[in-house]
Amino acid sequence: MRLSEVAVPEISAEEVLVQVKAISINPVDVKTRAGKGLAGRLKESMPLILGWDISGVIVKKGAHVTDFAEGDEVFGMVNFPGHGKAYAEFIAAPANQLALKPAGISHEEAAAATLAPLTVLQAFTQHANVQAGQRVLIHAGAGGVGHYAVQFAKHLGAYVIATSSVANRDFVLSLGADEHIDYRSVRFEDVVSDLDFVLDTIGGDNFDRSLDVTKTGGTVISIPSGLNETLTQKAKDKGINGYFILVKSDGKDMQHLADLLGNGTLRSHVSKTFAFENMAQAHEQVESGRTVGKVIVTL
Ligand SMILES: NC(=O)c1ccc[n+]([C@@H]2O[C@H](COP(=O)([O-])OP(=O)(O)OC[C@H]3O[C@@H](n4cnc5c(N)ncnc54)[C@H](OP(=O)(O)O)[C@@H]3O)[C@@H](O)[C@H]2O)c1
Repeated sequence: MRLSEVAVPEISAEEVLVQVKAISINPVDVKTRAGKGLAGRLKESMPLILGWDISGVIVKKGAHVTDFAEGDEVFGMVNFPGHGKAYAEFIAAPANQLALKPAGISHEEAAAATLAPLTVLQAFTQHANVQAGQRVLIHAGAGGVGHYAVQFAKHLGAYVIATSSVANRDFVLSLGADEHIDYRSVRFEDVVSDLDFVLDTIGGDNFDRSLDVTKTGGTVISIPSGLNETLTQKAKDKGINGYFILVKSDGKDMQHLADLLGNGTLRSHVSKTFAFENMAQAHEQVESGRTVGKVIVTL
């Protein structure tokens, strides 16, 4: 990565120009920077302005934008899985991918609450339809996605079991998990079974093992990368809905998140904040795989 001076982006009639105050860093940013993740899809746009998750202030709006005004504080995940161009002082963002930042939430907390909880919202409500009383397992409950997933599953009334290392046990329980599994000393399939829903944030054989603890008719959603056919067939053979999903930018979903953040149902845990000039350190932190909650870069 390198810093460059570029022109302030032009906006279309449906877009707003946002002065970026905070950016959240995701594993997909790190993978794409390393030539994986979305790098293949975006190869025509190289060199990329990376990033998708922002919170900031509208400084200009397109002719057809009616929902927002100049000066509004907004947040959102911009153009995912396309070219977001969020690592910048100014971003051109489609107005229908943003929501007003709730009062009382910082730009850091708002920027955090974009790609990660959108994934959770779309997985739990649009794909899996998790219901009150169901038993759910969330892998990596301390991570960016997982810490929102635990809170959201509790909000839906589910019984929540979450994994993390023992160092993050108290954090995961403080989010509302009913049970914690230290994945380093316990194999989860030895202690749970008959689950309604599993969120696989780890991939590889973790998806396969998750199928073994899910009941017939249950769902396992995997998010780290595509699944091979053997595994999707194994899910089918067991009568389990097992598949990969990719989060998508959506202003209505952002508004749902804004409501949950505004009324205190969801809270962002920002564990580390870096200055824009130290973006490389922010990437190294996320690349470590040990991040608790979210990593934020501020401008
Ligand atoms: N498909 C999509 O739309 C989509 C959307 C969002 C994210 N993702 C993908 O989902 C994955 C997770 O994203 P994220 O943002 O949550 O990552 P993250 O914040 O970097 O996750 C870090 C957390 O993972 C935990 N962890 C690492 N290995 C673990 C294991 N074997 N079992 C349980 N916990 C473990 C760590 O806890 P300990 O230190 O306690 O081990 C740490 O808290 C990434 O691969 C990301 O690219 C996909």
